[in-house]
Amino acid sequence: IIEQSLRPQTLQQYIGQHKVKSHLDIFIKAAKMRSETLDHVLLYGPPGLGKTTLATIIANEMGVQIRTTSGPAIERPGDLAAVLTSLEPGDVLFIDEIHRLNRSVEEVLYPAMEDFCLDIVIGKGPSARSVRLDLPPFTLVGATTRAGLLSSPLRDRFGVLSRLEYYQEEDLASIVERTAAILDVEIDEKATFEMARRARGTPRIANRLLRRVRDFAQVKGDGAITERLANEALEMLQVDRLGLDHIDHKLLRGIIEKFRGGPVGLDTISATIGEESHTIEDVYEPYLLQIGFLQRTPRGRIVTPLVYDHFQLEVPDQ
Ligand code: ADE
Repeated sequence: IIEQSLRPQTLQQYIGQHKVKSHLDIFIKAAKMRSETLDHVLLYGPPGLGKTTLATIIANEMGVQIRTTSGPAIERPGDLAAVLTSLEPGDVLFIDEIHRLNRSVEEVLYPAMEDFCLDIVIGKGPSARSVRLDLPPFTLVGATTRAGLLSSPLRDRFGVLSRLEYYQEEDLASIVERTAAILDVEIDEKATFEMARRARGTPRIANRLLRRVRDFAQVKGDGAITERLANEALEMLQVDRLGLDHIDHKLLRGIIEKFRGGPVGLDTISATIGEESHTIEDVYEPYLLQIGFLQRTPRGRIVTPLVYDHFQLEVPDQ
């Protein structure tokens, strides 16, 4: 229950992502004024920035139900047909990791998105025939960490494309403050900003750090989160000044120590540090690229001089 109420329920309550929010606000208001269904929305960007939360808010603001599923969960066209035929008019269908839908499922989705209908084949062989079934109008909200992985026919069928960005420090601080109030934990302003600084631009990480620091403050202190307690807890959690954790460290140090700073290919990095290359690419790399610690070149990844500075290492000669 707490988990659920941590998520903002309205656009008004949603902090940050000002551009995405103001656009959605207009599109939602316009659709409601015309008593229409909202156009299909694609939300893309790194994990933990609030794609699922926004999908829930969209349904909430439109005053409709949300049905949630994910790309890997819809294995066959029949699975998608079952979901589509159970929708009420105007409902939001949220498909997370939509880039993982397979081709045969995608092909059922095209006419469903475009004309709200379903073409199903009955029977086999020469007697097989196709029937067209009408669907209630619905809004598809798709979420993906990388829009580039979507096939272009699928991407083209979304009327609204919203890219989520890493959050500003002030916005993360407001989120930490809001979550702390909901969890009923006392936190001072310096501690709030320290957590915001170390959250890698990501509300999910900010809220996770807050819970762990709260545990620490409860056991080691009187429950209130002060700057000193926050710093001690974050040190224990191996979250450094910039919010990089031991996996970020392993990745960056691995490139420096084993490959003289790169260039080195993703699969090689993956094998040396023992993390899935998908996880590296979707979860760890985007932030390291964003803060200028990593660069992608045609010959592989390289670390930049900023990383040597951060680890207080000499930048090697070329
Ligand atoms: N909790 C997590 N993300 C949030 C956001 N963007 N706004 C408010 N609370 C949040």
